Amino acid sequence: MTGTTAPVPAGSGRCPFHEVEPPAFPCPRANPLNPPPYYGELRDSGQLQKLRLWDGSLAWIITRYDDFRAVVSDPRFSADITREGYPTVNAGMKVARGKYPSLITMDAPRHTRHRRMLTGEFAVKRMEAYRPKIQRIVTELIDAMVEHGGPLDLVEHLALPIPSLAICELLGVPYEDHDFFQAKAKVLASHKTSREEALAAGHELCEVYLRGLIRKKDAHPEDDILSRLVVKQLRTGELSEDELISMSRLLLIAGHETTANMTAMGTLLLLQHREQWEALRADPALVPQAVEEMLRFLDPTHSGRRRVALEDVELRGTTIRAGEGVIALGLSANRDGNAFPEPDRFDIRREARHHVAFGYGNHQCLGQPLARIELQTVFTELIRRLPGLKLAVPGDSLHFKDEMFVYGVKELPVQW
Ligand code: HEM
Repeated sequence: MTGTTAPVPAGSGRCPFHEVEPPAFPCPRANPLNPPPYYGELRDSGQLQKLRLWDGSLAWIITRYDDFRAVVSDPRFSADITREGYPTVNAGMKVARGKYPSLITMDAPRHTRHRRMLTGEFAVKRMEAYRPKIQRIVTELIDAMVEHGGPLDLVEHLALPIPSLAICELLGVPYEDHDFFQAKAKVLASHKTSREEALAAGHELCEVYLRGLIRKKDAHPEDDILSRLVVKQLRTGELSEDELISMSRLLLIAGHETTANMTAMGTLLLLQHREQWEALRADPALVPQAVEEMLRFLDPTHSGRRRVALEDVELRGTTIRAGEGVIALGLSANRDGNAFPEPDRFDIRREARHHVAFGYGNHQCLGQPLARIELQTVFTELIRRLPGLKLAVPGDSLHFKDEMFVYGVKELPVQW
């Protein structure tokens, strides 16, 4: 069935147009806290299918947990965005990321070399030493929320500033510039961004801002990750200035929307399962486990892990041809009943640490120790300090980021 559209799984409820034309990716959600039902139908049917991307091209969609792990850890699938057939998210992705290639879109051995330069910086031990700073950031933000009084938007007052303050401090990026780089990151991370918009945002962020910052670090190195990269990698010729700009861009952006959306969506999820919020209040030692379950259940990187086949690969009796694009969907893999019993039940007591919300294999999230500390700290403190937290608007009036690479709620008005 290579290159063709698989039969429509029973009960998909697709319109007649879809009988001849594969559905568009991403598929619509029926409930904002759950993955699009169509991915579940594909997963349960056991079929591999191609869906249609924004530019009319087709990509194989991987929905099962075992297949997800097999594909993203298989070197026959490349993460190199410059390769023909790579399934891009928008018109700008290839030009913006192609011009500033970073480790997330590189293959070994270059990927291995670049990643090795960063593993020590984000190691669990090093991040644990940073936990008291995160605690301080969260405490101060909640102090400010209490002083402000509700109702207020939890995204603006808590979810977004936490990762922003944390990564700025670690990297050595001035926090007062966060409005600027968050605006550019937003343009780069939208499914709707045009080629021209992506080029302009990439230019301002990389050429103007990050190049200037790296030169400042070179003149006056400080005690931060960017300065260490300048001293250890740039000055020694291990990285060119352009390569360091690309790496800094990834580090600056990768941990923002992901962690912020997990904070806001995790709060919403707990508020909609009040008994689990109360269980956490009764036993805060459950927070680390609850964070893993929130990651499994919500998996915010809903655009999937993008790869292109380097050679013909057999999967589930189907041949994925060399040059064909593949999108491995963690949000569907994390709801696979073969990996997680009763997968659609949100249960903070379950063992969920083998979820794939941080990816799997070589490209598995480098910042996961930092993300875990941020999320553990914020949920511990929210429950302790604002036990009566509740939505300040009806749940059905909330708006969600369907059009962004990383999924989340746009605003979360709360009171307590
Ligand atoms: C809840 C928060 C986060 C989630 C859900 C998340 C998710 C992911 C995922 C799924 C990947 C794999 C990409 C792929 O296979 O194509 C990834 C890679 C990456 N993440 Fe995160 N991330 C989070 C937080 C962070 C933070 C705080 C940082 C810190 C800078 C970070 C830095 C990175 C980097 C550098 C990579 C690329 C690794 C590589 O390609 O070798 N992430 N992340």
